[in-house]
Amino acid sequence: MFSFVKEVFRGGNRFIVGISVIAALGGFLFGYDTGVISGALLFIKQDFALGQLGQQWVIGSLLVGAVVGAALSAYSADVLSRKWTKFVSGVIYVVAAISSALAPDLVWLLVSRFVLGFAVGTASFVAPMYIAEQTPAKVRGGTVSFNQLMITLGILVAYFVDFLFKGASDNWRWMLGLGAVPGLALAIGMLFVPHTPRWLMQKDRENEARSVLQRSRNKADINDEVAEIRDVVEEHHDTSFRRLFTARLRPLMVVGLALAIFQQLIGVNTVIYFSATILKYTGINTSQSIGEALFVGITNVVFTVVAILLLDRVGRRTLLITGTIGGTASLVLLGVYFFSTSLQQTASWLGLVALVCFMASFAIGLGPVFWLMISEIFPLGIRSKAMSVCTIANWTFNFLISYFFLALVSGIGKAGTFWLYAGFGTVATVFFASRVPETKDRTLEEIESDVGGKDVHAKAA
Ligand code: BGC
Repeated sequence: MFSFVKEVFRGGNRFIVGISVIAALGGFLFGYDTGVISGALLFIKQDFALGQLGQQWVIGSLLVGAVVGAALSAYSADVLSRKWTKFVSGVIYVVAAISSALAPDLVWLLVSRFVLGFAVGTASFVAPMYIAEQTPAKVRGGTVSFNQLMITLGILVAYFVDFLFKGASDNWRWMLGLGAVPGLALAIGMLFVPHTPRWLMQKDRENEARSVLQRSRNKADINDEVAEIRDVVEEHHDTSFRRLFTARLRPLMVVGLALAIFQQLIGVNTVIYFSATILKYTGINTSQSIGEALFVGITNVVFTVVAILLLDRVGRRTLLITGTIGGTASLVLLGVYFFSTSLQQTASWLGLVALVCFMASFAIGLGPVFWLMISEIFPLGIRSKAMSVCTIANWTFNFLISYFFLALVSGIGKAGTFWLYAGFGTVATVFFASRVPETKDRTLEEIESDVGGKDVHAKAA
């Protein structure tokens, strides 16, 4: 297991680790800005006297912004480059965090969170794409998923900040405003990292691509990698959206979209955004619930580390399928807990245990595997557009699930809501087992040469 760690810190890979850390600050902010609302909402609700609709929009405005950001960056990642797109997102993170913190009223807050969403939507896929395009195949699972680790760390830090500032109701402003600090680090950091060799080759800048590769590859391997990238650049001149739905690419779009949608349909973000609220349902007070939410955040981080250590060893499929089964079982348990009043009276700890098991399962499977796979399976020419479409689907379903969570709970009850998510988990498991390919140990160009062909599924077996 630790060969991955050794491999990562070998020679040129230190360069990869350095740039991955900077790029993954985008992931950290994605986590922070989405996670911080779990505790902040309880206070914003009081300050602005919000009903259910107002609360839904405090969460939803950022998610709608993320859909827009993911759409816009399909173009900017190609035209402006992956690097400068991430720089711009860093600047937006700073400005919008400060603006949210200063919001005098609800509308100002919603607009600021909407703009912040642009940066979140952008960072969510440009960060893994940037890392995947810089990284040698052998360690790509771990390095790309490092972005997911940063998402989970962002969520955890947000929970800690919520916990630290929970003393006074006005402190939600600090909770939101502190996101400006890592935003600044991201913007400054991006000034110092190189473009990805794959984007450079696409822009006919082979010499620069070679000098970037030299920093992380053995001399002997560079010619092969450049030739491989050149082949795929020359082969496909059609970089239009239409190409995404051609017979050759359709099967991969289906896999990417299914991963995107199921990642949200199993309800992970009702747990992330509403963990404090869900834990309050178990009968504890606001302060205790913010404290207990920390367990959920810690579990997410710890099991993402486990996933990073395993992804390049056991492969993406095994973790994805195991994690989805575990998540589904935990949702069934959560439903049983909320269904049975006697369980709630005699075993109130069971709610927290089920949430923790759910989070662990998500963190070893769907959490990292979705972002990793969409950065691997699409051909270079249309990678940013394909990833953008999957990311838009992911944020749209994130919005729908979060927006309707409170309404669903009032409509079909807590047990019914978690059982509904479990139903989605069951369908997801069957789909993943039958359709998702294995991408471990193969270069992006090898995966591309199999695109949509029989090989993708054959190698899945
Ligand atoms: C998902 C987010 C989720 C996070 C939790 C990410 O992979 O895309 O929606 O909040 O994982 O760790």
